[in-house]
Amino acid sequence: MGKIPEHILNEIQDRCDIVEVISSYIPLKPAGRNFKTNCPFHHEKTPSFIVSPDKQIYHCFGCNSGGNVFNFIKEYEKMDFIEAVKMLAKKTGVKLPEYKRENTDSDSIIGIIHSINDIAANYYSNTLEKSGDSSSARRYIEKRGLEKDIVKKFRIGYADSSWRSLSEYLSKRGINIDAVLKAGLIQKGKDASHYDLFRDRLIFPICDVRGRVLGFGARVLDDSLPKYINSPETMVYKKGHHLYSLNFAKTFIREKGFAIITEGYLDVISCHQYGITNAISSLGTALTQEQIRALKRYTHNVVMVYDADQAGQMATLRGLEMLLEEGMNVKVATLDKGHDPDSYIRKFGPRCFGDLIKKSKGLFVYKLAILREKFPESDSEAMAEIAKEMLVTISKVRNAVIKAGYIKELAQELGVKEEAIWDELKKTKRNVKAPGSMLQAQGVVRKIDIPPAEKILVKLMIEDAGVVNTVKDNLQPFDFKNPDIRHLVETLFGMDTKDSFIDAGKLINYLEGRVAPHVISFIVNEDIMIKDKERNVSDCIKVIKKNQRDSRLKDIQNRLVVAQKNGYEDEARGLLEEFNKLIKGGV
Ligand code: GTP
Ligand code: MN
Repeated sequence: MGKIPEHILNEIQDRCDIVEVISSYIPLKPAGRNFKTNCPFHHEKTPSFIVSPDKQIYHCFGCNSGGNVFNFIKEYEKMDFIEAVKMLAKKTGVKLPEYKRENTDSDSIIGIIHSINDIAANYYSNTLEKSGDSSSARRYIEKRGLEKDIVKKFRIGYADSSWRSLSEYLSKRGINIDAVLKAGLIQKGKDASHYDLFRDRLIFPICDVRGRVLGFGARVLDDSLPKYINSPETMVYKKGHHLYSLNFAKTFIREKGFAIITEGYLDVISCHQYGITNAISSLGTALTQEQIRALKRYTHNVVMVYDADQAGQMATLRGLEMLLEEGMNVKVATLDKGHDPDSYIRKFGPRCFGDLIKKSKGLFVYKLAILREKFPESDSEAMAEIAKEMLVTISKVRNAVIKAGYIKELAQELGVKEEAIWDELKKTKRNVKAPGSMLQAQGVVRKIDIPPAEKILVKLMIEDAGVVNTVKDNLQPFDFKNPDIRHLVETLFGMDTKDSFIDAGKLINYLEGRVAPHVISFIVNEDIMIKDKERNVSDCIKVIKKNQRDSRLKDIQNRLVVAQKNGYEDEARGLLEEFNKLIKGGV
């Protein structure tokens, strides 16, 4: 079977509240019967993202994304629909029927890449195991203090120095060389030859949350450069999308209520070796939105522990802002100069490291200390610089109460009036360029073009099944101009309207994509003042009929002009008759 039955979708929806689900990702504020917030799908400063608990629907009136709870998860988590349903089914304890995905070509190649990666990880791991105690790789592992169990758990391996050992191993197993290329493990040389990408390096498999191997990081055994090379981007490995060790850390992150983010492979591995099991790593890149969203499924609380050097400090500041923008709570732990989490734990032990985590500072204290060092004078220019820099960060804090707290603290710290800081904040907002709506950049701000009468009438039909019958007596689906609406009307006409109102969230399931979900959420979520419903219905019917007649008249006129110009007299006469009949018929 390829589809999830509608009644199962409805059951899942019955067991979860869209407000609860969405507010686990982004904070919602009550607004009348609904909830409001800044849209997570495009950049905006005043909230136009509405969640309706009555209708179990969300809609953004800025970018027109919208739908029911499944559509939200799909868009927010960037999952496909089935994955979103699965996730909510698990959460709500609804059992899904055995579901087999029809394999498309890209699904199967993705599966193949996963298995090639898995075979390669085993190969590298065996190579390490088989190399003698005195081999350079084993000596290096020993030197870094990595224990046997942890090497096994993280599937650390070794790629020997030959140019073809992996490719030969894989070909012997009958694996297609093109697939190995797609997995990013080999590279094309001159004249159709291939060579292994990783040579004489320690291998760290990078896995997804489910533990499937997506790609590899590979470290030299000495001080040569580049220190690390990574798999190239493939269909499964995307730079900056994955968090190293999240597969091991996820349950502990939930248990402990926060995640520790470090920079490097060995930082995380050391943490886990010493029982600090909620540690993950961003792998040297600045934290990305994808990484933060992956993490958000497990916690909203983060402690950053980056290397105690200039680069680490810069990366921390950038990461802080990204995390704040995603609505996370962030703290920063600082190590003694020259240390990274790995060297710190080895030197001082996990207990000291734990204390350090407990003593981690909020963003305010952390950034202020850095700025104080950068601008040590206490004149007003220095204060202005500090205020400006601090406000860039503070402006990213989503929670208004917390933001106000920071403003107050900053005013006290700099010895100026709070209002002055508020004024500066306003300027910051004007100066900071909006990162350009993500959706706009991708050209997916959706346009919805529905004549008002059609919109209101359909809205009334969904809210009151009695209206459906009135409309049925007066109009036909093809009287509606907008194709989505036409579809919707057809569906509503055909529905069993015993229920007095139609559940919009479930209507989306019923339509199975025949009408885009955001069109439905757009129609039902807009507040329209209705004083006299019957009157409104009949007005809308009149307008739609009139519009329909007008466009038919226009069409006849156009055809008439063509007919007369070409001298098709019979046709012209017929059209004229039709025209007159329509005019006399009135509305
Ligand atoms: P050790 O030096 O062995 O302790 O490794 P480390 O993980 O602590 O490295 P470092 O702190 O220098 O860098 C942090 C992370 O940045 C690494 O784990 C890598 O993910 C990444 N990184 C560092 N150097 C390179 C490089 O030359 N190329 C790439 N692609 N990534 C790098
Ligand atoms: Mn290190």
